[in-house]
Amino acid sequence: MMTEFSLTPLHPLFAARVEGLDLRRPLDEAQVAAIEAAMDRHGVLVFPGQELDDDQQMDFAARFGPIEQTRAAVDVQKQRLKHSAMNDISNLDEQGRILAADDRRRFFALGNRLWHSDSSFKATPAKYSLLHARSIPPEGGETEFADTRAAWDALPPAMQERLRPLVAEHSLIFSRAMLGFDAWTEAEARQFAPVPQRLVRRHAGSGRIALFLSSHIGRIRGMPVPEALMLLRDLTEHATQPRFVYSHRWAVHDLVMWDNRCTLHRGRAYDDQRFARDMRRVTLSDVAPTLDQVAA
Ligand code: OGA
Ligand code: MN
Repeated sequence: MMTEFSLTPLHPLFAARVEGLDLRRPLDEAQVAAIEAAMDRHGVLVFPGQELDDDQQMDFAARFGPIEQTRAAVDVQKQRLKHSAMNDISNLDEQGRILAADDRRRFFALGNRLWHSDSSFKATPAKYSLLHARSIPPEGGETEFADTRAAWDALPPAMQERLRPLVAEHSLIFSRAMLGFDAWTEAEARQFAPVPQRLVRRHAGSGRIALFLSSHIGRIRGMPVPEALMLLRDLTEHATQPRFVYSHRWAVHDLVMWDNRCTLHRGRAYDDQRFARDMRRVTLSDVAPTLDQVAA
């Protein structure tokens, strides 16, 4: 079987395009190891022209680690996708119709347009996310990625020392509050209670240090809230400067895989009342809570 695939850089610092693989076919161990090595180096891999169904997307993802079983969604009883572990990143309801302007699920989905790292609000956050495009709008709806290892490297040493010991608290409730969304049920509020994460972590596969930012952060332990939120705003602004960002313009059947341990991402606006954007995400868990991972 062919192990070789081509890697084409998409940005001076990170992100690459992978060609020469058909992800519907089983991969051998050497191919999986080569993709993992490319992920460790590039943080984001784009696989164009992969016509996958839900089962094939799940099977490919499962080669890289345990799939997260619980999705973060409101109104989970009204779901469109057959696999309960698959995240619906669309603007469609369970009948495939565009969500109404005042639909709660639409407000919740708008949170994906804030810079974040997937599942940073879970005690053990995400490793990789694999997002597949089934249908896309004619304009807008790009996904942007930021390189948080490069962002760390570019911080002044005094700032690095200040950040190194810090622990942040993450919750979906914090990120949605940024958009004024606070209509939580009691069960959701319990499910999304804040979890602690290191603000600075060492990326296992590369040994490099990364800033662990996310719009899900609402506090930093031992710091007054306004000071913490201002610091996070400054750090996010730093980490998402154009020189650290790759913007992905989607084509149908692109599969994009990113490493949430060393990148941030956000969706961009599109006319979601007019055009369907059907994207489906499988998310893999990291091995342990970041508090157990030594930062330096
Ligand atoms: C995601 C996400 C952004 C987008 O799938 O985790 O944040 O562009 N998506 O849809
Ligand atoms: Mn996301």
